[in-house]
Amino acid sequence: MLFPSSMQKKWIIGNWKMQAGALLATRLPTEIASFLNGLTVSPHVAIAPSYLWIDSARQALGDEARVLLAGQDCSVHAEGAFTGEVSANMLREIGCSLVIVGHSERRQYHRETDAMVLSKLQRAHEAGLIPIVCVGETLEERESGGHLAVVEAQIKHSILAGGSPQKPFLVAYEPVWAIGTGKTATLADILQMHKHIASVLSCATSGGANAIPVLYGGSVKASNANEILKLDGVDGVLVGGASLKADEFCAIISAAVE
Ligand code: PGA
Repeated sequence: MLFPSSMQKKWIIGNWKMQAGALLATRLPTEIASFLNGLTVSPHVAIAPSYLWIDSARQALGDEARVLLAGQDCSVHAEGAFTGEVSANMLREIGCSLVIVGHSERRQYHRETDAMVLSKLQRAHEAGLIPIVCVGETLEERESGGHLAVVEAQIKHSILAGGSPQKPFLVAYEPVWAIGTGKTATLADILQMHKHIASVLSCATSGGANAIPVLYGGSVKASNANEILKLDGVDGVLVGGASLKADEFCAIISAAVE
């Protein structure tokens, strides 16, 4: 599925995880909005607060429509008696445009399978959200040389198994060993994987290799964002820890338009 040309800008997405209390959840969007005010050109910017703070973040953004809201996850179900779950429709109703699905922390700590990730992608599409599908190998898988095959299998089973999606989606390549560890993949590693992902996607989708934005995530910060964003095939970054500091996150936004 091709994104319209306005979608070809870089994506800078902050994943707050189970961090940022009520105060920070309003202060961060306010600071990001005032930073964007001074920019003439901006990339696509999105933040993924905890479910509880999505509405506060939305209110803090005010009229700043350039910052999109994302859920950190959604249920595999559209609706029903599923205590503690949040549906893609509810995210849409509260003002989200995007939702992260298949983050490695969900796959690892909540035993989410590729089949579940595919269901979430489908629920997101039905609700009118753009899913951000996370894939990535563990350190063991990389060291044994299986990383390309692992990520290829994740893409096939968590995105393409239901047929080529007809609505927009993003892919985030996040090597598990680089998340929250301070260890970033080398530029050569990122380049190689993004090329591989593009070729897997292009074989299976009508839009071709460049049609689906592929983001990198894993210890992205202000000091390395520029070189990562300049790489061929890197259409943006998914930022964890550094998205909780307004100055770091804004510097990453700047790096995307340099
Ligand atoms: P990190 O997290 O930037 O803290 O490594 C990235 C992510 O999990 O999306």
